[in-house]
Amino acid sequence: MFPSLALGFLVAGITAVAAGSSSSCIGTISSLDDVSSATQCTTVNINAFTVPGGKTFELQLLDSTTVNVLGEIQFGNLSWAGPLFRVIGNDVTFNGNNQRWDGGGPFYWDGQGASITTPHPMMQISISGTLNDVYVVNSPSSAFAITNAGPLTISGVTVNDLQGNYPNSRSGNAAAAHNTDGFDISGSDILIQNCTVLNQDDCLAINGGTNITFADNYCEYGHGISIGSISSNAVVSDIEIIGNHVVSSAYSFRIKTDASATNSIVKNVTYSDNTATNCTGFGVLITQSYPTNLGTPGNGVIISDINFNHGTTSLTANSGAYRVAVNCGSGSCTGDWDWSGLQTSGGKAGSVIHDNLITGFVNTQ
Ligand SMILES: *[C@@H]1O[C@H](CO)[C@@H](O)[C@H](O)[C@H]1NC(C)=O
Ligand SMILES: *[C@@H]1O[C@H](CO)[C@@H](O)[C@H](O)[C@H]1NC(C)=O
Ligand SMILES: *[C@@H]1O[C@H](CO)[C@@H](O)[C@H](O)[C@H]1NC(C)=O
Ligand SMILES: *[C@@H]1O[C@H](CO)[C@@H](O)[C@H](O)[C@H]1NC(C)=O
Ligand SMILES: *[C@@H]1O[C@H](CO)[C@@H](O)[C@H](O)[C@H]1NC(C)=O
Repeated sequence: MFPSLALGFLVAGITAVAAGSSSSCIGTISSLDDVSSATQCTTVNINAFTVPGGKTFELQLLDSTTVNVLGEIQFGNLSWAGPLFRVIGNDVTFNGNNQRWDGGGPFYWDGQGASITTPHPMMQISISGTLNDVYVVNSPSSAFAITNAGPLTISGVTVNDLQGNYPNSRSGNAAAAHNTDGFDISGSDILIQNCTVLNQDDCLAINGGTNITFADNYCEYGHGISIGSISSNAVVSDIEIIGNHVVSSAYSFRIKTDASATNSIVKNVTYSDNTATNCTGFGVLITQSYPTNLGTPGNGVIISDINFNHGTTSLTANSGAYRVAVNCGSGSCTGDWDWSGLQTSGGKAGSVIHDNLITGFVNTQ
């Protein structure tokens, strides 16, 4: 009957902080000790500080909070599962201001991602709203995992794992960093634009979700723009890959479904106005035999309506690389595959099974 009175009685100690308009305060975080009081405010400023190893820096924000990052965030080096940072909230405006978030990657990197537990993801994003100008350097393993609850626009974000391209004392001759995915997505209604990813694994990997657009991003050195890998009971639909540059990467545009997956769907994916240069493995690879590139495909995932149209996607393969390969299970690639906007050069043709599906493109030698 008197909910506000009852609440006031129950939480008497913090009523002044929690009630109504007083959430318009400005909270300031300079250590983990400040988080619980600062997140009672709808403006949260984050100063430079070091998060102790073994602790997640977690922000559970009030609706419509604005976050301003004002200094460099570092994380103590420790072998543990992570994540290093997690943000949760509705209608959030997260201004990264290009301040660095340093994951301490070289402490973990061994060329395989195997010898010690690495905290991942580095940045777990579970907000609706906007996330702008966040600069991540040296992620131990995967950088961003997006598991949002509502519409989210991500702009001007950088993942700089360039240092991981070079071998270190534990990696032999291999690149030190491994499994450093840029953006892993399990969520819907997401726009990622004007971001830069310099890494050693997928620039983007969409594992599930609908209405996802990846536009005007720059991906270099890693494994390019991926859908998958798709495991069982997953749906990926209504995806647009527009205006991106994929440079010096092992793959440019890839759809990978697990050979063993069942009851999953990938449908309505459109690639337009992209460029890919110095592709070193496969330009376009659509395979249902993941983790093998061109193994025996499964047929538990339906892939339908995969189009390269509405604007030219041009792709240049390195000598020794394959331009296009398609490896579908029996009867499991269907619908319209209009590839009239795909222009390829360099490299070798690659094998296309179910060639009769694809229109407007001939994969000549
Ligand atoms: C963690 O180790 C890396 C690599 O040695 C280093 O760059 C980083 O500054 C270290 N982080 C902290 C908080 O000491
Ligand atoms: C893209 O992001 C970069 C890095 O944050 C920023 O400097 C630039 O202004 C952005 N460009 C556009 C067109 O938004
Ligand atoms: C698709 O996602 C974008 C980006 O979050 C959003 O603005 C748009 O409203 C979504 N479209 C639908 C039909 O929900
Ligand atoms: C395919 O996805 C796009 C958005 O990526 C959407 O606008 C379009 O309506 C979808 N087409 C179908 C047939 O659902
Ligand atoms: C092509 O890509 C490979 C692999 O990332 C890189 O080592 C090489 O320097 C690139 N070549 C050019 C000409 O950019």
